[in-house]
Amino acid sequence: EQEEAGVWYDGHELAMKLYHHLLVSSPEGRKAREYLRKRGFTKEMIERFQLGYAPDSWSFLTDFLQKRNFLPRDMADCGLLALRESDGRPFDRFRNRIMFPIWDKSGRVIAFGGRVLEADDKPKYLNSPESQVFNKSRLLYYFHGARPAVKRKNEAVLFEGYVDVISAFRAGIEHGVGALGTALSEEQAKMLRRNADRVILCYDGDEAGQKAAWKNAEILKKSGLEVFVAALPEGMDPDDYIKEYGADRFADTVIGQPRTLMEFKSVYLRRNKNMSQEADQLRFVEEMLIEISRLPKAIERDHYIRRLEEEFSLSYDVLKQEMKEHVQNNV
Ligand code: UTP
Ligand code: MN
Ligand code: MN
Ligand code: MN
Ligand code: MN
Repeated sequence: EQEEAGVWYDGHELAMKLYHHLLVSSPEGRKAREYLRKRGFTKEMIERFQLGYAPDSWSFLTDFLQKRNFLPRDMADCGLLALRESDGRPFDRFRNRIMFPIWDKSGRVIAFGGRVLEADDKPKYLNSPESQVFNKSRLLYYFHGARPAVKRKNEAVLFEGYVDVISAFRAGIEHGVGALGTALSEEQAKMLRRNADRVILCYDGDEAGQKAAWKNAEILKKSGLEVFVAALPEGMDPDDYIKEYGADRFADTVIGQPRTLMEFKSVYLRRNKNMSQEADQLRFVEEMLIEISRLPKAIERDHYIRRLEEEFSLSYDVLKQEMKEHVQNNV
């Protein structure tokens, strides 16, 4: 298995270089270059993240690897190639896609995310299948590159997408990493915890993104990290925001002034509620009390109860009593 893995790393390294070369300086890559230019990717970002282009061919990478004596079987095992079901012949998994190399902790390329150029092609991102070297739940996009900055700042920023990590980097946020999928694992949280005390979740400003932020916040907190959540306007992701409002505003406001976890919860729990209606207000108060009851410090619990008392003109004693019942449920 060890020997095999060596061949897998070599295959990925070679594919990355080939795809990158095609993107940067081949006629086939013109459309992809144009696409990235329109999206505001600079040469510098294309180099740093070694972006590439997989041409619109079923046999381009297959032929290339075969000429270099890589066995199709090995290359299929590590996910670089796919095998035709009818006769087991290898073919290119990634076709006509912008390629984002994915590195492991030690900076070896072990997988790719491939993005379509055309808006209605599906899936938008095709990712390498999991293998012995590519385990999504043990990996964060760009962790190997961001790690020094994470340590230096004692803080990490967690994004949803490849492009968000890259755009944020260009905006000066060099300690950003990406989760490959919505549900964070304990292992991923620990990777961050071992390098920093704080984490800022910067997920898309849509229902799916905020829901994932809520879930992941709990996992990060459990691992002992202090969790903050960046606020993005409805429907915008970090890359959209930077394009619309600029790098400085993103760095100073969105990343520079994130919400505390309780502030985020207070905003999140108002989503999909009509807060001018009494029933929804009460539902909100009830849900907030559950969150408050989970805070470990009495002084914190008291602080947030007083906020509810003020905002909704409810009796402090009643709120406290109600909250206490939840505390009992927690133990
Ligand atoms: P998004 O849909 O938010 O994409 O998915 P994005 O990052 O903003 O990408 P652009 O700006 O349209 O290029 C967030 C992340 O979820 C994963 C990818 O890792 C993506 O970056 N994803 C999304 C997939 O794996 N497959 C998909 O089809 C879509
Ligand atoms: Mn280059
Ligand atoms: Mn999203
Ligand atoms: Mn997005
Ligand atoms: Mn996006």
